[in-house]
Amino acid sequence: MHGISTKTKEEIAAAYSSSPWWYDVRGFLILTFAYRSTLWAQVRFFGGNIRGRHLEVAIGTGTLYEFIHRWRRWKKLPEASVAGIDYALPMLAGAQRRFAKTPGIELQHADVAALPYDDNSFDSANIANAVHCFPDVDAGLRDVFRVLKPGGRLAANVLLYPRGPRPLRWLAQKIDDWGIRKGILYTPYQEEDIRQRLQAAGFLVEFEQISGNTYNVAATKPVVLEGQSA
Ligand SMILES: C[S@@+](CC[C@H](N)C(=O)[O-])C[C@H]1O[C@@H](n2cnc3c(N)ncnc32)[C@H](O)[C@@H]1O
Repeated sequence: MHGISTKTKEEIAAAYSSSPWWYDVRGFLILTFAYRSTLWAQVRFFGGNIRGRHLEVAIGTGTLYEFIHRWRRWKKLPEASVAGIDYALPMLAGAQRRFAKTPGIELQHADVAALPYDDNSFDSANIANAVHCFPDVDAGLRDVFRVLKPGGRLAANVLLYPRGPRPLRWLAQKIDDWGIRKGILYTPYQEEDIRQRLQAAGFLVEFEQISGNTYNVAATKPVVLEGQSA
């Protein structure tokens, strides 16, 4: 039977309070055996989505975002002005230390479902490794939609129910069950479910890819032309 958490956003934030070294080691194992994805694939997917004023939702301690930032500089991609948010204070404190000397990144404590930003203020947004951690995913997607400018683009990856060869499926299921018990995972999804939730929030789904147990998706906020209703 597939599990789903009953934890609140406060309990989920409390579950993200481990020391940075364990968070990173654990993250690597989860990435490899539960998501069946690689850091390199994520850096290219999320790094390629950033432009102008960018929102990095659930930035965590910033381990992934630091790789993305370095990769963009190495590729000589245009600098962006970045706002990073996370609901777990220990995670955010890690990101604050990591980016203390990096210009162009501001960090704030916030819930994805109640973002402290004006409507239509970001050109792009990433939700990396976190959609499946939100207790109210629809409220989160709606608020990201609200703060994106028309034409703004969201990139997200979502953990799917385990698939593939039996031993790998078994291992991923064990890790998911443990993550749900601990509170660091709310629930995996089916890709159709996430596609429908994105569309219900108002997004146009532009790109979809399944890789391992991960659904990578990019979606835009439509531009409403004069004379059309939103
Ligand atoms: C698996 S970590 C991913 C961190 C980072 N994006 C990465 O890829 O390394 C999930 C993050 O989601 C954050 N999170 C969970 N629920 C949240 C919410 N309601 N609002 C904002 N952040 C949330 C957690 O605090 C945690 O830092």
